[in-house]
Amino acid sequence: MPFSSCTVLMFLLPLFSALVVTSAGNFLQDFEITWGNDRAKILNGGQFLTLSLDKTSGSGFRSKNEYMFGRIDMQIKLVGGNSAGTVTTYYLSSQGPNHDEIDFEFLGNLSGDPYVLHTNVFSQGKGNREQQFYLWFDPTKAFHTYSIVWNPQIIMFLVDNIPIRTFANLESAGVPFPNSQPMRIYSSLWNADDWATRGGLVKTDWTKAPFTASYRNFDANGCVWTSGSSGSSCVSKSTNSVQANAWQVQALDAASGRRLRWVQQKYMIYNYCSDLKRFPEGLPPECKRSRLL
Ligand SMILES: *[C@@H]1O[C@H](CO)[C@@H](O)[C@H](O)[C@H]1NC(C)=O
Repeated sequence: MPFSSCTVLMFLLPLFSALVVTSAGNFLQDFEITWGNDRAKILNGGQFLTLSLDKTSGSGFRSKNEYMFGRIDMQIKLVGGNSAGTVTTYYLSSQGPNHDEIDFEFLGNLSGDPYVLHTNVFSQGKGNREQQFYLWFDPTKAFHTYSIVWNPQIIMFLVDNIPIRTFANLESAGVPFPNSQPMRIYSSLWNADDWATRGGLVKTDWTKAPFTASYRNFDANGCVWTSGSSGSSCVSKSTNSVQANAWQVQALDAASGRRLRWVQQKYMIYNYCSDLKRFPEGLPPECKRSRLL
């Protein structure tokens, strides 16, 4: 570590410990149910949350805080059995017409057939950056950790701490990067049987309703956005350790790069960057710079 950044770290550490607001998340404190009434339930004093979907409605929640960069971890156990037609979303999004968004969407399937993990990144209102994956485990049998690392240099999607996708800051190549709009965390469970499973061929079997997804161990280390009379500022809300602040400079090192390539080679089933038919005028600029990513 160069001398200068070491010095900076020494000065910053006491500052971070002074700003400790909370430890691991609590659903009662950190989230609000946004739709679906009692189909969304916060249980065990805020340690556990379930969403459900029936023929009348799905359900969803969102964070009370807005974040401007951070690392968001959530453990999710997806709808089991015949989940065809259902979609569970978990994403960060800002508001307004030119919004930014970082998406995980889990597309259900018939019993025994694989879920698809669909991902996308919107910057300044523009998405069309889908990548889809199968998972290397059954996401309905146990909780697994789905994380978003978002810092000024890179966005990383992680599954059980294995990077599956990155979106680097390529503003220098003219690609807008989400870095000016704070985002909330959202999650929902809803019916999308017009497109979700095998492109809409397999419909939701309502005799199996209600469908339920479960959440626990939410953890956000990041900057909580506050807007007051003096303008807006970003206050670090993190637990008191260097580890908890690692997201700020997290990048793809050699080991995580190897794991990313393993996932992309074995489990990626769609990549917009390889879809030449879709972009007859040429692939988006970020595809050229990050083909291996
Ligand atoms: C569902 O299973 C089929 C058959 O194995 C597969 O082609 C498809 O990708 C799976 N996932 C979704 C969401 O359709």
